[in-house]
Amino acid sequence: MKTVLLGYMGSGKSTVAKLLAKALNLSFTDLDDYIEKKEKKSIKELFKAKGEIYFRLQESKYLKEVLEDASPGIIALGGGTPCYANNMELIKQFSESFYLKGSIATISERLQSEKSQRPLIAALNEAQLTEFIAKHLFERRAYYEQASKTVIIDGKSAEAIKDELLIGLKTI
Ligand code: S3P
Repeated sequence: MKTVLLGYMGSGKSTVAKLLAKALNLSFTDLDDYIEKKEKKSIKELFKAKGEIYFRLQESKYLKEVLEDASPGIIALGGGTPCYANNMELIKQFSESFYLKGSIATISERLQSEKSQRPLIAALNEAQLTEFIAKHLFERRAYYEQASKTVIIDGKSAEAIKDELLIGLKTI
């Protein structure tokens, strides 16, 4: 069974997933990295060269591939992964999932300094970014909240979130 971390861009999915994999001595897969390796392009280049629809189709295909591998492991998804195709159904079928939930303020603050590699937000100024996140979270909430568990990330370190996940995994 896989353990999946999902949530909005900037919620710390990859960082926490790495810590969790280390603590449990399991493999770690970052879906964005996996896509980049398979497609031999960065996510940024992929969006630019082939567009978002192509990216979403490939994302869904590779998600299925990593979930169907039967060995246990920790997977960090891309922020949009649960919200397209039948991805959330696959996630529920093949994994225990955790939604790393951050407030608009937390996410906005984090993404402001690291938006350049993220094609959906790279061109937005601070006010536009906050508005974009608020709208996007409203649309995506219905998917994210189908995760097996939700962990609030506001004001917490990656270590603290990893410890909460370890406890969460024992009670699933
Ligand atoms: C996206 C999030 C990104 C990446 C792509 C699209 C999204 O992943 O998959 O840029 O739609 O929220 P991170 O959440 O790892 O930044």
